[in-house]
Amino acid sequence: MNKQIVVSGIRPTGFLHLGNYFGAVRNFVRMQEDFNCYFFIADIHSLTTHPTPRDLQSGVKQVLAEYLACGIDPEKATIFIQSDVPEVSELYTLLNMNAYLGELERTTSFKDKARQNPDNVNAGLLTYPVLMAADIIIHKAKYVPVGKDQEQNLEMARKFAKRFNHMYGKKVFPKPKPFTFDGGDMIKVPGLDGSGKMGKSEGNAINLFEDPKSIRQKVMRAVTDSGPTEMNQKKSEAVENLFTLLKIVSTPDSVAHFDALYNKCEIRYGDLKKHLAEEIIAYTSPIRDRIIEILEDDLYLAKVAKLGAEKARESASKTLQEVKEVIGFRKLF
Ligand code: ADP
Ligand code: TRP
Repeated sequence: MNKQIVVSGIRPTGFLHLGNYFGAVRNFVRMQEDFNCYFFIADIHSLTTHPTPRDLQSGVKQVLAEYLACGIDPEKATIFIQSDVPEVSELYTLLNMNAYLGELERTTSFKDKARQNPDNVNAGLLTYPVLMAADIIIHKAKYVPVGKDQEQNLEMARKFAKRFNHMYGKKVFPKPKPFTFDGGDMIKVPGLDGSGKMGKSEGNAINLFEDPKSIRQKVMRAVTDSGPTEMNQKKSEAVENLFTLLKIVSTPDSVAHFDALYNKCEIRYGDLKKHLAEEIIAYTSPIRDRIIEILEDDLYLAKVAKLGAEKARESASKTLQEVKEVIGFRKLF
């Protein structure tokens, strides 16, 4: 039986953090066993923030090494760099003809970015969801494992796929859906600053590559409150976030243990944080060791990227050919 197709990517804008891992990469690793997976490094997307050539290169190398260190296996999944597959940019150009200014301007991620960096509201930022749609539908993906923050971009990808099919009266693209195991909700990993999600730009993240000392420091400095004063008191957002992190990295028993202490007003946040830090270290340190090892092997990294590009181009060029025929491009000579 043919395996269902899966596509996902991450921009190479720094180290991967726990949000990227639990929101996306951990699912990549699990999915590669049963699906036909394409996992890539979205280097073209990262150009919206104008990295230097050096930063771009080191970012790509870092994410590639991190993908491998997390357990993505180039024998099982196709791992590639977005810019190595020019067919994606070509499909992006074609999809742009049916993407409307109004809908692009209304996207929350565009509005947020335009607000954060009013001096750099470039067209790439505006059409970011179109390029993302091209990434996904060029392989005719059915599933896209991403975190909650990508929900709207994925909705746009579905819209562009449907619009294309409708316009030409042909079912060229399946509708890509978010993927979570067990049909659960898309995940949002909180940061350590008391509110919102963990993110690179938020400065509240713990990276997979982080050394144990720095993990302990960051966790011990995490925002909490002055402690519960009544039995079974509702938790503040900051404390709830620490519990959410604990649930992600630790066992149900230890969550229940700290929960009971909280409910009895006997919790000491310092103890909770110490425990949380050690659990995070237990999770990340084997990954960190592998990242260090893989980063030294340029030959291996180059081999993986080359093999991935070949496999991704094979799939992408087939779809692009079909799209061009459907659109009506004809060879005249
Ligand atoms: P960042 O927000 O740090 O810039 P990206 O936007 O590059 O991270 O996200 C890459 C992938 O990681 C996406 O699939 C995204 O949904 C996921 N992701 C990022 N942060 C989180 C988070 N805090 N919780 C869950 N998933 C996340
Ligand atoms: N927008 C995603 C992010 O910021 C990265 C991305 C680009 C992506 N193209 C994609 C994710 C295609 C899934 C599928 O995290």
